[in-house]
Amino acid sequence: MNIVLGVGGGIAAYKSALLLRLFTEAGHTVTVIPTDASTKFVGVATWEALSGHPVTNDVFDSVDQVNHVRIGHEADLIVVAPATADLLAKAAGGHANDLLTTTLLMARGPVLFAPAMHTEMWQHASTVANVATLRSRGVHVLDPAVGRLTGPDTGPGRLPEPEAIFAAAMALVAGDTLAEHDAASPAPLPTEPAAVALEAVVPEAVAPVAPTEPVAAEPATSLATTDLLAGVRVLITAGGTREPLDPVRYLGNKSSGKQGVALAEAALAAGAIVTLIHAPMEVPAPAGATIQRIETALELRSATLAAAATADVVIMAAAVADFRPANISTGKIKKRDNADDPVITLVRNPDILVEVVAHRAAQNQKQLIVGFAAETGDDEGDAQTYAQQKLVRKGCDLLVVNEVGPGESGGERVFGQDTNQVEILALDGASPVQSGGSKREVADDVVHLIAQRLAAG
Ligand code: CTP
Repeated sequence: MNIVLGVGGGIAAYKSALLLRLFTEAGHTVTVIPTDASTKFVGVATWEALSGHPVTNDVFDSVDQVNHVRIGHEADLIVVAPATADLLAKAAGGHANDLLTTTLLMARGPVLFAPAMHTEMWQHASTVANVATLRSRGVHVLDPAVGRLTGPDTGPGRLPEPEAIFAAAMALVAGDTLAEHDAASPAPLPTEPAAVALEAVVPEAVAPVAPTEPVAAEPATSLATTDLLAGVRVLITAGGTREPLDPVRYLGNKSSGKQGVALAEAALAAGAIVTLIHAPMEVPAPAGATIQRIETALELRSATLAAAATADVVIMAAAVADFRPANISTGKIKKRDNADDPVITLVRNPDILVEVVAHRAAQNQKQLIVGFAAETGDDEGDAQTYAQQKLVRKGCDLLVVNEVGPGESGGERVFGQDTNQVEILALDGASPVQSGGSKREVADDVVHLIAQRLAAG
């Protein structure tokens, strides 16, 4: 998808760098258009480096490419974050004096504004009228979050967290529900508590609370005979995707599928209705589940998004290739003595888990989403730190984290093994839960935790 990210001149511009990351990590192409004022907060070089594209707000740059027409036309979605009071006024007034405002006038796709300003500005009659005008034209304007502002003041005016803006943007693109919702309700004023059209569909996109000390999982030994998940529709992905290079070769990963299959077995034993979508695995799929076999990340994405629409629980245990070859050779790639060795160019795959989270928001669906994380530490951070960041980035409810790589005896610690050692992190800040033992025992603990959360509503 082609996304235009407009950045207004406010201190919250730095948060848009994280938003940009979320878009690019989900596989989208992003053109950043910062206002001149915003470059006092975040420079053009940052946007160019993060987006991988040249950045300008000048209509007279690259005039031959008619950017002020082309960018708006080609955009599938425009997100303006932070949207200042000035930008909202210009958009409502139809101004066209820089690349961002001309692009907004040319836009034919959905437009989302994420305002950030001081409370007085947000509540000023001018802003109230401008927001009402924009909303009445079908433009989507998020309500700002309430909290600490730039100075000592507190109130409505904070830029919503990047994850919330991302989820709202994906909801907007995916979203019939959202469109109907907007159409059905009169355009609310910014100061009205009812003005939460978009926020209402992203209730889970909140900043996580810092977790407390880990606790051991409660014993889940009785699962084989319980109906803890009776009638619950559980979708599980498993195995390691394969990205073809030519008819005989592929890029793969070490996932055996054992943990995903153990989860399917544990969920079945707990009475769930299980759908297992799996890439190649070293173990057979369990009897009793609806099975769908796929090979590539893009196939996994289509199958998962379709099945997630009717799932109460989604568990993403598959090891998904983050990249795929840009071109698949129709014939076997040959080695030739008189030619250079081939170079494989990779392109990024979409992040399926992030999309499942966004779809849940779009459909206002009640669904528990569990991600898995294979982590390694490095000089810049340990595995736990990276896992916590991944939990926030993905926006899933639970993240089952295992540290991968060589174990103490030198052999592989997780991949292909029959045992596992995990820590389960929660986005809502509940204490991390530790679990270890056979992959089935770990699966039983995960199922137990899911059942507890479903029971708690
Ligand atoms: N995942 C996904 N789509 C991708 C990559 C990963 O849905 N393109 C899911 C996996 O199924 C898993 C979770 O995201 O539930 C974390 O996967 P992991 O490989 O640990 O993380 P990445 O997103 O690939 O991040 P990184 O490689 O940077 O650690």
